[in-house]
Amino acid sequence: DRPALVDPFGRHIDYLRVSVTDRCNYRCTYCMGDHPTFLPKAEVLDLDELDRLISAFVRRGIRRVRLTGGEPLARRGIVGLVAGLARHLDGGGLDEITMTTNGSLLDRFAGDLAAAGLRRVNVSLDTLDPARFADVTRRGDLAEVLAGIAAARAAGLAVKINAVVQTGVNDGAIDDLLAFAHDGGMDLALIETMPIGRIGGDRAARHLTLDRVRADLERRFTLIDLPERSGGPARYVRVRETGGRIAFITPLSHGFCGECNRVRITCDGRLTLCLGRESAVDLRAVLRGSEGDAALSAAIDAAIARKPQGHDFAHAPFAAVARGMNLTGG
Ligand code: GTP
Ligand code: 5AD
Ligand code: SF4
Repeated sequence: DRPALVDPFGRHIDYLRVSVTDRCNYRCTYCMGDHPTFLPKAEVLDLDELDRLISAFVRRGIRRVRLTGGEPLARRGIVGLVAGLARHLDGGGLDEITMTTNGSLLDRFAGDLAAAGLRRVNVSLDTLDPARFADVTRRGDLAEVLAGIAAARAAGLAVKINAVVQTGVNDGAIDDLLAFAHDGGMDLALIETMPIGRIGGDRAARHLTLDRVRADLERRFTLIDLPERSGGPARYVRVRETGGRIAFITPLSHGFCGECNRVRITCDGRLTLCLGRESAVDLRAVLRGSEGDAALSAAIDAAIARKPQGHDFAHAPFAAVARGMNLTGG
C-alpha cells in the first residue's frame, strides 16, 4: 500500500472538502457581495472530473469527503455524484461522505441523498427570526430551511446546525438556536467570521470573538469541555441543562492549524492547501491533460509536500483572501 498523506509538519491529511459549484441561491452577507459573478461552466469541473479527482484522493488516503459549495444541492447531478462515490464506502477506503448546505433544497433531496449513501449534513442556520434570516441570506426563506432540516431528519440523516455569529445580527439570539438544535438532538456549531472573499461590506464591524459568546452562555448554562475533536477545527462542550453539544469554531481567537487534517478543492479544480492562504495547485490541468491517474496521484503528493503551516488571519485579520468562500468550499 501507498504511504499515508503526511505534510511537512507531520499532519496526516485524511479529510477532503470539495466545492462542487460556486453558485448559490442565497447571498449571505458574510460570504458574497450583492451581485457576485460566477465562473463560466467550462471552468467548473464536470461530474466525471469530480468523481475522478475525489477517487484519486481516496486512493491516496483520504477517508472523509465533505461536499460543499456554493450550494451543493444547486448542482445538477449531485445525488449521482454521491451515489458514485459511495462505491468507496464500506471497505473501499472512505469512511464517510458528508455535505454542508444552506438547507433550502433539502426538502426535495434529503431522501435521495440518504439512499445514495450520505449519512450526515451540516445546515447553515444563523437565526430563527424570519426577517433577520431574510436579511442575512438576502434571498433566503427561513421556512424552506426548517422544512429541509425536518426532511433530512425524517430521512435518517444526522444534522448539525452551523451558525456564523455576528455582532448586531444574531449574537442576542443564540439561546433560540440552542433550544432548537438541542430539542431536536442536533449539535450546534458557532462560527467566527473569517476574512475569506471580498464581500463589499464591513466584516470587521460585525466580527465577534466567540469567547464573549461563551462567557454569555455560561451565565445561563453549564458548559462542560469535551475532549473529542473529530479531527476538525471545532472544540466541543456539553450543555448540562440540555444534554446537547455546542461546537466552537474559532479560527481567529483560538487557532487550530496545528491539528489540521484537511485540504480543499475549489469548484474549478484547484487544490487549496489552507483555507486562509491564496496558494493553490491547479489539478484541473492535470485532470484535463493526457497523463492519466498516475500523474494525478503524483501531483497530489507534490502539493501536500507544500502545505503551509497555517493561516495568517492574526497578522492581517481583515485583509481578505481574494478567493471567495463559495469557490473554496466553506
Ligand atoms: P464536521 O466536523 O465533519 O461536522 O465538519 P466541519 O465542522 O469541519 O464542517 P462544516 O462544513 O460545517 O464547517 C464549519 C465551519 O468550519 C465552516 O465555516 C468552515 O469554513 C470552518 N472550517 C472548516 N475547516 C476549516 C479549516 O481548515 N480552517 C478554517 N479556518 N476553518 C475551517
Ligand atoms: N466566515 C465564517 N464562516 C463562513 N461561512 C461562509 N462564509 C463564511 C465566513 N466568511 C460558513 C457558512 C457555512 C459554512 C460552510 O461556512 O455559513 O455554515
Ligand atoms: Fe450560499 Fe453558503 Fe455563501 Fe450563504 S454562505 S451565500 S448559503 S454559499
